[in-house]
Amino acid sequence: MRNRDSYAEPYRIKVIEPIRQKDRKTRELLIEQAHYNVFNLRAEDVYIDLLTDSGTSAMSANQWSGMMIGDESYAGCANFYNLQDALLEIIGYRYVVPTHQGRAAENILMTMFVSESQDVLGNMHFDTTEGHIKLRKANPVNLVIDEGMDPDIDHPFKGNINLERLEEELKKSDPSTIPLIIITTTSNTNGGQPVSMNNMRSASELAKKYNRPIFIDAARFAENCYFIKQRDERYKNKSIREIAREFFSYADGCTMSSKKDALVNIGGFLAFKDKEEWYERAVQIQICYEGFRTYGGLAGRDLEALARGLYEGTEEDYLEDRIGQVHYLGSNLIEAGVPIMKPIGGHGVFVDGQRFLPHIERANLPGQSLAIELYKEAGIRCIELGTCAFGYKDPKTGEEIYPPQELVRLAIPRRAYTDRHMDVIVNAFKAINERKENIKGLKMVYQAEIMRHFTARFEMIK
Ligand code: F0G
Repeated sequence: MRNRDSYAEPYRIKVIEPIRQKDRKTRELLIEQAHYNVFNLRAEDVYIDLLTDSGTSAMSANQWSGMMIGDESYAGCANFYNLQDALLEIIGYRYVVPTHQGRAAENILMTMFVSESQDVLGNMHFDTTEGHIKLRKANPVNLVIDEGMDPDIDHPFKGNINLERLEEELKKSDPSTIPLIIITTTSNTNGGQPVSMNNMRSASELAKKYNRPIFIDAARFAENCYFIKQRDERYKNKSIREIAREFFSYADGCTMSSKKDALVNIGGFLAFKDKEEWYERAVQIQICYEGFRTYGGLAGRDLEALARGLYEGTEEDYLEDRIGQVHYLGSNLIEAGVPIMKPIGGHGVFVDGQRFLPHIERANLPGQSLAIELYKEAGIRCIELGTCAFGYKDPKTGEEIYPPQELVRLAIPRRAYTDRHMDVIVNAFKAINERKENIKGLKMVYQAEIMRHFTARFEMIK
């Protein structure tokens, strides 16, 4: 990676969106009124919003001008064909089924392939993917390599699937119990960690050997391809699109939340490499849930922005700056003594909340406490991915079951913030570090049965 001092953002800013930092007293009041849940804050009360990198990208002049040639015909709009051409050129897939966002594409895929009691294998399924598998009373099985779960190991491809375990699972079951393999790129849940080309190729060979479909969750495929270029000597002279075409050639199809690497605010799709019969089946479901085959829940203008975003998201200089900015934030946090997941991932920095606040017991939610302190300190909003998000109460004993990690995710929106914003984040951490012994933790006073972190309420421990 080039030194970040030697280049600047590969764009200049033509349109701006004002953001304001409320004073500390106001922030303290607002977060109390929000029951210490950042999802309850109004966005206008947030200064730097790191809740997600999804749908939060700044679009380019080229994308906005594309929106003006949105063809809103019910059937056969020009923008659909532009999307088709983009996918054929960038990932080499012939059939595309547009959807309103990524989870809608998952819904169609799971409806096609998954039924009760089956096991869906993957490196690490994202929450909504798991949700769709469970809705069908099937089981999501995560087979990421062991290194992927250790925040301190500096492995270049911590999103890789464990191939021995994959083969074991495939070998022991009869074909009807495993309908699908899904490789998520990059792996969001363990820190935006990439999957290597070798791993994808080998997983594909196993899928062929045991005759199972293999799909890619392509939400952050361009960032994944950039890591392959950086970390695998054989690909250093290949373009991102050459790498993408090879990577996708190893799968039968993909789902994509285009709200990430396609640089749009809404949209998604399901795509198939070459199986026309799958495409026709998918369209039947798409028509019920999303819309006709050439718009699938999106306006023509959204399809155009998406097609153009796919090209921009796979530009070398854009990716260098994007990954470079996340790396800039991560390495400055490491220098400031903040414990983070290593190596630094593609779409954000994942802080180890428990190690940062070791005096707060797990039951008093150190990850959530850190997220709240960041808001109080500087108006920064981020998300806890620890006890509150992934823990749960044992239905039999009522006992709290803790997830392996207590992470806080600082997800960086694409092309939206500058390095000055990154500096403010680092300074906020430094200030919290100085007084962290006085932070007391929280207790959860309300929780819903599923996905409790979205609606939970908390109180500060006095
Ligand atoms: N797959 C991955 C890997 C994701 O990260 C997401 C969304 C989805 C699928 C679902 O896509 O939101 O368009 O329906 N991730 C967001 C996040 C919500 O904040 O990480 P969607």
